[in-house]
This record gives sequence, C-alpha cells and structure tokens, in this order.
Amino acid sequence: MRVTWYDRASLYDRAFSWDPTTERTFLLSASTEHGRGAPARTLEPFCGTGRLWADWPGAVVGVDCNPSMLELARTRGSVLRGDVTALGLADRSFDFAFALIDSFRHLLTHDAALRHLREVARVLRPGGVYVLGFDVTGDLPSDVSRSIWTQNGVHAEVYGLGDADPTTRIETVRAILTDTRSKNADIVDDVFPMRTYTNREIDDLLHLEGSFQRAATFNRTYKQKSRAPGSQATILKKSTQGGTGFAVAPS
Ligand SMILES: C[S@@+](CC[C@H](N)C(=O)[O-])C[C@H]1O[C@@H](n2cnc3c(N)ncnc32)[C@H](O)[C@@H]1O
Repeated sequence: MRVTWYDRASLYDRAFSWDPTTERTFLLSASTEHGRGAPARTLEPFCGTGRLWADWPGAVVGVDCNPSMLELARTRGSVLRGDVTALGLADRSFDFAFALIDSFRHLLTHDAALRHLREVARVLRPGGVYVLGFDVTGDLPSDVSRSIWTQNGVHAEVYGLGDADPTTRIETVRAILTDTRSKNADIVDDVFPMRTYTNREIDDLLHLEGSFQRAATFNRTYKQKSRAPGSQATILKKSTQGGTGFAVAPS
C-alpha cells in the first residue's frame, strides 16, 4: 500500500516545526483587524498535526482525513476526522478559520473547492474570517519550483514535476522527507496531485461562492500586501449580512 508523507505524521511535524510566531501573529491579527476580534472558537480545516495550536486563544477544532496526522493533533486540541467538503459542524459556530501550507490545493476539482468554501462560510459566524495560504501560479506555465530545508533532524524536499495539465489544472508534486538522525536512513518519498490556481481562477471561485469578500492578500512574508504569483495568504471576510452574500462581487 502507498505510504503518503501524511501517514508519517511525526516526520512531517518535525519538518514543519519551525518557529510559528510569524504565522500565529499574522493569523490572529487577521482576526482582530478584519474579523470578530480575538477568536473564541477557531476552525482549522486540513489541520494536519495542529502545529500552530499551542497557546491559541479560545477553543480550536481541527478537521482532517488522515488518521496519523489526527493522532498527533489530538494531543494538542480537539479534532474531527472527516472531509473538508462536508464539515459536519454546526452553522455559525466559529469566529475564525485558517488553512495554510497549500492545503487548499489538495481539493482537485472546481466543485470540491467550491463545496469547501461554502462549508467554511456556513460554519463561520457573520463577519468571521477565513485565512487561506497557498501558492498561486502565473497565467503562463510556471517554472518548476523546489523547496529544500532541514528542520529538527528532518531534511525536506518538495517540488513540482512539471507544468499543470491545462484542462484539469492539476500538477504532480513530489515530497521527500529524510530523517537525518535515523541510522537506517528513514525516508518517505511521496508523489501526489495538486490543483493549481491563477489569481483569476481564485477570483472566479470566490465570486461564485458569493459570501466571502477578499479583505487583503499578503505574500510569503505575511507583511507585504501582494497578489504576485507565488505564496499568498488571503484574508476572506464573511458577509456581516447573515449568509446572503455581499451585494458587490469580490474584487
Ligand atoms: C499540508 S498538510 C496540513 C497543514 C497544516 N494545516 C499545517 O499548517 O501544518 C494538509 C493536510 O490536509 C489533509 N487533507 C487533504 N485533503 C483533505 C480533505 N479533502 N479533507 C480533510 N483533510 C484533507 C491531509 O491529510 C493533510 O494532513
């Protein structure tokens, strides 16, 4: 059976165990500046190991489909095993939601992405915020990008294997994690599909969903506002009108 890098949660968690201060500060200021203030209840769809939950204000609930990731996340907060396109959570029960590290690109079809956005909009209270962080491609075929780093005794390489299919917009990604402390050279080598998006495709999706408005978009530094291709973190604000959507289409 194929072993994915998410099946090796402790290795994954060590690779992503950098100082979370910048991400946490950005997320919490997105809620205080654009949303409902310091969140009493936060949702993390695609929560993985819950690596950002330490000292999080209020309650946090994570949703993920991978049992190995959830086993680790459960030691850090409340979790629900499920699919992010059908959350199984009550309407208007969260103030804030976030999903970073390209997780949204795991949803491979337009329909799945739309269902997910509608689900998050449904469970957010009016005026709540959803922060989505993922890589956006340019309109032209992209260069192959490669991320390489070593963290907490894990060497990680993550890269695309070529341009996305022009029809499905799906690219193939390879992720290799190597435990540099293990005598047996413990490695997980995973190849999987991810959906790609241009800025225009994201705008179309948000327009169709209708209840989120883009409050701001930042680049990978989380400090500079930019919609340039590359890593983006977008702050989506749910209408305060109570689920009927914004009168003006998101720009
Ligand atoms: C990049 S990882 C998690 C990142 C995590 N949010 C973080 O910041 O560390 C993506 C996660 O999404 C989960 N996932 C992918 N597709 C999913 C789906 N349709 N429903 C629920 N979880 C999903 C995977 O199991 C994996 O744990």
